Amino acid sequence: MRVVRTLDDLRGARAELAKPVGLVPTMGFLHEGHLSLIRASRQECASVIVSIFVNPTQFGPSEDLGRYPRDLERDLDAIRPYTDIVFAPSVESIYPTGFDSHIDVGSVSQPLEGEARPGHFQGVATVVAKLFNLAQPDCAYFGQKDAQQAAVINQMIEDLNFPVELRVLPTVREGNGLALSSRNVYLSREERAAARVLPTALFAIRDKWRAGENDCGRLVEVGREMIAQEPTIKLEYLSIADTRSLQELPQIQGSALVLLAARVGRARLIDNILLGRE
Ligand code: PAJ
Repeated sequence: MRVVRTLDDLRGARAELAKPVGLVPTMGFLHEGHLSLIRASRQECASVIVSIFVNPTQFGPSEDLGRYPRDLERDLDAIRPYTDIVFAPSVESIYPTGFDSHIDVGSVSQPLEGEARPGHFQGVATVVAKLFNLAQPDCAYFGQKDAQQAAVINQMIEDLNFPVELRVLPTVREGNGLALSSRNVYLSREERAAARVLPTALFAIRDKWRAGENDCGRLVEVGREMIAQEPTIKLEYLSIADTRSLQELPQIQGSALVLLAARVGRARLIDNILLGRE
């Protein structure tokens, strides 16, 4: 495994890799969710590049950029068995003085996280486009955990003709259902216990849907009522949306995404489940 820190070193190391090349973009502080993507890339590709970069442009001014958890040495130990190149650039090398171009993906980036976090998806799309150009992967691996992010990247790949196959893999959860997230370190023991109601509410909605309920208003109400039982949790949104456009649905026909965001103490958590086929 080679750790490269500059764009030139990445290009040099990339040129020597066997194809196909898989890329797993991350912000580090890696957990089993990230590792599931890296292992899939190892299985499906001849070579694996993992990027570790806490991208400042996707954080809002009042968000957690300054305290976002980091542990590069532990990350390197965790991914060594699966990874050929780790790209861990400085902020200055990705955004040198004078940097002034941005990618805005359209309507899919506007609701939900787009509304709650203005500029977030512009930051994500721009850095992912740069990573695609630098690493030139054949396949790129993303998690269903960030379903809207995956939809935004899918739209960008199609619209801008990136020669990259997008692979989106299932959310990895703790035994109690809580989706793994680097931000779970912000939770106290009590908050972590309370946060279990979030996946429980999503699963309850899925059960109700499986039992024949298609009306999104009624399904959302099932989840809202469950989450309201935990007074420490502040629900930001709970929405049932189209899997590709992320626009809210009145009724489920075929498939849908159920997505939520909530504040639990200092943490802002997101989660979702897919109903029906992709
Ligand atoms: P980060 O939050 O580090 O996540 C990196 C990748 O891991 C994303 O594709 C995310 O969806 C996936 N992931 C996170 N938790 C997961 C879980 N529990 N199960 C499965 N996959 C999971 O997402 C980002 O970084 C950034 O926005 C990035 C794409 C790197 C651009 O800066």
